[in-house]
Amino acid sequence: MNKPLWIVLEGGDGAGKGIAGGVVQDLFNDRQMPFIKTREPGGTPEGEDLRRMLLGESGHVWEKTSEIMLMTTSRVQHVSRVIRPHLAAGTSVLCDRYVHSTLAYQGYGHEGPIDFIERLHQEAVGGDMPDLTIILDIDPEIGIARAKRRLEEDCVDEGRMEGLAMEFHQRVRRGYLTIAANDPARHIVVDASRSIPEVREEISNRLSAWIETQQGRTAPRRK
Ligand code: TMP
Repeated sequence: MNKPLWIVLEGGDGAGKGIAGGVVQDLFNDRQMPFIKTREPGGTPEGEDLRRMLLGESGHVWEKTSEIMLMTTSRVQHVSRVIRPHLAAGTSVLCDRYVHSTLAYQGYGHEGPIDFIERLHQEAVGGDMPDLTIILDIDPEIGIARAKRRLEEDCVDEGRMEGLAMEFHQRVRRGYLTIAANDPARHIVVDASRSIPEVREEISNRLSAWIETQQGRTAPRRK
């Protein structure tokens, strides 16, 4: 049986995580690997409530540390109740955003305490990390315009981050690139400014090669 894999999709708003997710699902299906698709903030009833409080137009103004802790609270529920049990049962996990988002948005973007985010991840969540993270990299000028169009078309009330200044989104982008550079073996950075077929092809090729290497791997999941 194929070893279950945990893959996370990351990137600035409007980078095209949906397209990347489609490629991952196709590869899991081709290999007949059972999987679930989930997201953060969210992924549990409690997390979805927190998502509405954090991203919706609730009018709430969060202190930096409150926002970090609420994102982490959603993650604790998600890891304990969804991610770990599925991996233990042999089901792969495709997760839209994880702790990289807290580091990139609340850490680099809002210039919040990165060491606190890392410590909280270790102590509250348990330090669990995915096998691979795909980072969709795009100039925020392009990404934010796309994201705003999509929110309008889908009538989704989650545009709090998209409304922030362009400098914030530039810092988020640099944050993601720093995270990937610090641990290149566990990250794939994809230039998401190209055409959809080009982006799909690159993800498919790189991910297929990576999955082959993983299926031969016996080392325990890293904490
Ligand atoms: P998305 O799921 O449509 O990409 O939107 C989620 C938004 O939440 C996005 O703007 C990034 C933000 N976010 C954070 O700021 N910190 C986090 O820890 C997570 C998981 C998401």
